Amino acid sequence: MNRKRPVAADEEPTGPPSAASIAAYLTRAEGLVAGAEDLSALDAAEAELLGRRAAPNLWKRALGGLAESERRELGGALNEARARVETLVATRRGDLEKVARAMVLESDRLDLTEVLPVPGPGHLHLVNRVREELEDVFLGMGYEIAEGSEVETDWYNFTALNMPPDHPARSGQDSFYLDLGDGESVVLRTHTSPVQIHLLERGELPIYAVMPGLVYRRDTPDASHLPVFHQIEGLVVDSGVTFGDLAGTIDTFSKAIFGADVTARLRPGYFPFTEPSAEFDISCTICGGVGCRTCAGVGWIELGGCGMVHPAVLESTGVDPEVWSGFAFGFGIDRVAIMRHGIEDLRTLVENDVRFLTGV
Ligand code: PHE
Repeated sequence: MNRKRPVAADEEPTGPPSAASIAAYLTRAEGLVAGAEDLSALDAAEAELLGRRAAPNLWKRALGGLAESERRELGGALNEARARVETLVATRRGDLEKVARAMVLESDRLDLTEVLPVPGPGHLHLVNRVREELEDVFLGMGYEIAEGSEVETDWYNFTALNMPPDHPARSGQDSFYLDLGDGESVVLRTHTSPVQIHLLERGELPIYAVMPGLVYRRDTPDASHLPVFHQIEGLVVDSGVTFGDLAGTIDTFSKAIFGADVTARLRPGYFPFTEPSAEFDISCTICGGVGCRTCAGVGWIELGGCGMVHPAVLESTGVDPEVWSGFAFGFGIDRVAIMRHGIEDLRTLVENDVRFLTGV
């Protein structure tokens, strides 16, 4: 297209306008402006309709040859037409600019909707879940939760628990001693029983408490042993506490944790800090008590130890055994976890298998 001659030669007005030619110009302008699809098409249409060589300019020059009244009338109509076309162009320009801006924004936009695989929420490790469940069961029975430290002195871990330095039961607990230059006096606790002593020393009676936590023994890891494992200790000291209370308590929490069809039994046992003492078993959760590989064919699985608190333990902490009596128990939380969830090997719990922390 020849931009210097924006109006086609055959349409180029050579004489003055008429009402009809002005109306035709307006109709043409409306079509051109509406048909401009983008800003450069609109620029071209504008030059054609309002440029130096466009109809209104040429007409304006030709007005001079008309009579006064005609000149005023057509001149007014011409100005109106011109103003109308300018408005059309400006409006269209505004619209097209908006579209152009939107297109730029669209192409510059950051795609924030990209879906990246996010790690799921996960959950507590199985052992911690079981620990919390156990705590809940005992909280429901009116117990408090107490915690001790994982490093204890000889007094708390052994002596106050009726295991004086030469007691043979000490050697059964292959212990990790801390090398502090004063012999074997500070130890990574081998059981949670030292927390019994801390609670008794507190001197607030009666006591109904459970104490969960980590314990350490120089055991070689195998399917049923870990050198670092979790225990939960229980201690009840009140007046008139009997062995029947202990048996009932063990049966109650066993059913709460493993289900109503699980039975607990007590077998005679020995611990220096309880008298009488017992080992407690639950009916095997895998076979229901008929005998299987997990329970070595006997139908029972050993969970822990228990007994009536030895008078010497009460005395060593200044509690009068003539007034107070109590029971204690302790068992491995990790063992409870594998039995509840049908896991055959304790070591799987500590091999960093992420499935213990994810999924349902
Ligand atoms: N502390 C004992 C152990 O680790 C278990 C136990 C606790 C026994 C309380 C009796 C009373 O083997």
